[in-house]
Amino acid sequence: MQARSIEELSTPSVLVDLDVLERNIARMASRSREAGVRLRPHAKTHKCPEIARLQRAAGAWGLSVAKVGEAEVFADAGFDDLFVAYPVVGEDKGRRLLVLADRGRLAVGVDSVEGARTLAAPFRESGRALDVLLKIDVGYGRVGVLPERAVALARPIAHLPGLRLRGVFTHAGHGYLAETGAEGGEIARLEGKRLAATAADLRAAGLPVEEVSVGSTPTAALAMRIPGVTECRPGNYVFHDASQVALGTCGVEDCALTVVATVVSVPAPDRAVVDAGSKTLSSDPLRPRPGGYGQVLGRASRIEKLSEEHGVIAVAEGESFHVGERVRILPNHACVVANLHDRLVGVSGDRVEAVLAVAARGRVR
Ligand SMILES: Cc1ncc(COP(=O)(O)O)c(C=O)c1O
Repeated sequence: MQARSIEELSTPSVLVDLDVLERNIARMASRSREAGVRLRPHAKTHKCPEIARLQRAAGAWGLSVAKVGEAEVFADAGFDDLFVAYPVVGEDKGRRLLVLADRGRLAVGVDSVEGARTLAAPFRESGRALDVLLKIDVGYGRVGVLPERAVALARPIAHLPGLRLRGVFTHAGHGYLAETGAEGGEIARLEGKRLAATAADLRAAGLPVEEVSVGSTPTAALAMRIPGVTECRPGNYVFHDASQVALGTCGVEDCALTVVATVVSVPAPDRAVVDAGSKTLSSDPLRPRPGGYGQVLGRASRIEKLSEEHGVIAVAEGESFHVGERVRILPNHACVVANLHDRLVGVSGDRVEAVLAVAARGRVR
């Protein structure tokens, strides 16, 4: 029987509050309109065509994805402007991108000549060109070239037959480690400024730069306002999570994704165990500082330890739980939670309104 209310759902279930979701989508869309940049949300957060359709209806220009496989799922769902925001490497991927390029506007990230060459080959052989954006490292220290090396790398990439340089992009993931709002603000401003300055360097060297694309949820609001930025790619903002609350990006009331779980054991007054472990909540730490694996909503208690199917709540002073009780948990990182489940349950208040298929789940190639 199809559950009509949260109470009737079997646990653990991942809930998405559709009212909060739509509010989050509308807020980021109007923010980017006001800043005069195109919004290209990162769909790796939800992997749901239904949610991407809401983003498009609110004014998103296209989607970002992390994997060629995700791009294929969203192309099948009718999305015709996709950016694989990742340094994709491999001729097999290049061949799949060639097929995708026939279905709409497409671009891919690159950060090396060797990697770019593997993508160029199938396009060159068929007399086509794949749009690429050069990934710039604005301080995260993951992938991407440092701004001072960007011209030297962009030049050979731009001249590879089979490729067309569309622009530059970055992701200030180090914003997730900002201990204070001031630190986070500085990271966001530098994300925009360093990328815009790199774009100017490339143009001064005679290289084409149409797109200057920043993007992460904590930095989006500030980074997108820096002159020269043309596009923003936040992902997590549709759901938010305990880390965004801890970073001050949003309040608990802005968190759309929660997990409903059942207390299955209360072995001691200071310990209660729910039927949601790492396979439901993921083991991702709270950021910017570690602090358990999920907040019990409406309580001070939080999940302190996880095993695969057990979430161990450290019961806060003055609180208690009983076996059979249902709790709502705000996870640390909503993107990885969505990826652990085949479907998300769309709710409005206590009512179940929709089942959202996580269609691009598992498309890691
Ligand atoms: C390249 C890239 N762009 C955009 C995003 C979206 O960032 P967020 O989830 O903070 O909104 C990510 C997230 O990992 C990313 O890796």
